[in-house]
Amino acid sequence: SKLKIGVVVGSTSQQSINRRLAQGLVRLVPDQADFEFLDIGHLPVYNRDFDGTPAAKPFEELKSRIRSCQGMLFVTPEHNRSVPAALKNALDGGSRPYGQSAWSGIPAAVIGSSPGGAGTAMAQQHLRNIFVFLDMPTMQQPEGFVQWKEGLIDADGNIGPASHDFLTKYMSRFLDWVSLHQRA
Ligand code: FNR
Repeated sequence: SKLKIGVVVGSTSQQSINRRLAQGLVRLVPDQADFEFLDIGHLPVYNRDFDGTPAAKPFEELKSRIRSCQGMLFVTPEHNRSVPAALKNALDGGSRPYGQSAWSGIPAAVIGSSPGGAGTAMAQQHLRNIFVFLDMPTMQQPEGFVQWKEGLIDADGNIGPASHDFLTKYMSRFLDWVSLHQRA
């Protein structure tokens, strides 16, 4: 049966270039998996007092959606050379209470775009560090340091010709990675 892949966009901006990139990426492999975008923008700022209280409800809902996915694609901007606060908050809240992390074991990939030439590379490296602790096997290659340029996404929301082949390869390698890491 088809894999279900969660997509987490690290930006909560209405005009997010990373959301547009994520939507374009999903369209590159339309029949090969079911993709579900997981919202993080409505989450309160997590702290441990939420655990076991009604305040934890949005995180419990997020956790059950995470657990319904066989793989997770993170498409994120870089904020001050690191992981955006909204994304870190979702990772933290989804990992608690202690011993009840929803992220554990889910195969993942990271990619992101910024107008700068480094293309979110440092944010992605910080994310990889977090994923080691969260026990998420994360695709090493290809890396997806995408500089946002005119034409990266065309007027219809599809990935433009300059990056089409590379990003199609990225997505098919990711789906292979997810398949490889399914537990029997
Ligand atoms: C940025 N931006 C940015 N870009 C970058 O390449 N490296 C960085 O460290 C930062 N830092 C940063 C901090 C904050 C608080 C903001 C709001 C922005 C610029 C960023 O790449 C640009 O705003 C992108 O459009 C953000 O992606 P989304 O939100 O459009 O997906």
